Amino acid sequence: MIGVFDSGLGGLTVLRALTARFPELSFVYLGDHAHVPYGNRPSEEIIELTRAAVETLFRRGCKLVVLGCNTATAVAARRLQTTWLPETPWRAEGYNVVGIVAPTVEAATQTPWAVTTPQYPQKFLTDRIAVFGTTRTIASNVYAEEIRKRCPKVTVIQQVCSELAGAIERGVAEPELERLVKEGIDGAMAQANGEPLHRAILGCTHFPLVEYLFRRHLPPATRILSQPEIVADSLEDYLSRHPRFKGEIRPQPSLVLLTTGDPEEASTGARVFAGEGLRFQHLDT
Ligand code: DGL
Repeated sequence: MIGVFDSGLGGLTVLRALTARFPELSFVYLGDHAHVPYGNRPSEEIIELTRAAVETLFRRGCKLVVLGCNTATAVAARRLQTTWLPETPWRAEGYNVVGIVAPTVEAATQTPWAVTTPQYPQKFLTDRIAVFGTTRTIASNVYAEEIRKRCPKVTVIQQVCSELAGAIERGVAEPELERLVKEGIDGAMAQANGEPLHRAILGCTHFPLVEYLFRRHLPPATRILSQPEIVADSLEDYLSRHPRFKGEIRPQPSLVLLTTGDPEEASTGARVFAGEGLRFQHLDT
């Protein structure tokens, strides 16, 4: 079984891509609706909430947990991978946690994560890449740093969309979502100072839900990088190298959706992502 974690519903965009790519695998999704949104919380709190969620998924038998959340990845992934996990019995038993920033940076720079110095021809790439994210993701600077390590001539424009994930999560009406998307794009365009934006990373897993609004307001030539697909590509590669994380392949793979919040509300909210049929259970049931 593979665990997918997000602060709320946003990780369902990643889960949807993963279940489509791996119909034979079982997944457990955990949304921390009791604490969503994470994006404006202090870093230490995000680290602790993410650690607790990963441990919950490990206990449920997920040997691999994908942090389907940029904020949790940007703030907590490295700490959990290098400081927490090695100190726990989970590591000895072969459990692991991976984030979604690394595959996105790989796709944006066309450079494997392991390559951390500029290589030809990427070192001459002069594109302008906009990253839209939560306050905490942008404050972590992780996208800008990791992209520039590999492509030092790329201009990375970082744009906070502080209210957007929360608004998507609350299911607010489209005109308000469009206003928030446009506000973010206007901010990025102002930073670009009239120069073209070649690519846009929707660096929050909630944002693919309003990708059509980003598409409507971004310049037509700006390519949007689809993070759910990028994560699915990356996981496919990872699982081919580490097949033990696939878990038991059953004739009827299972999909369990857990929430720390109200399962009725989470199930209603999930309709925006996947129509009827996704039923959340409370974590303790
Ligand atoms: N979906 C999350 C992300 O990818 C976080 C949204 C939030 O909780 O603020 O950043």
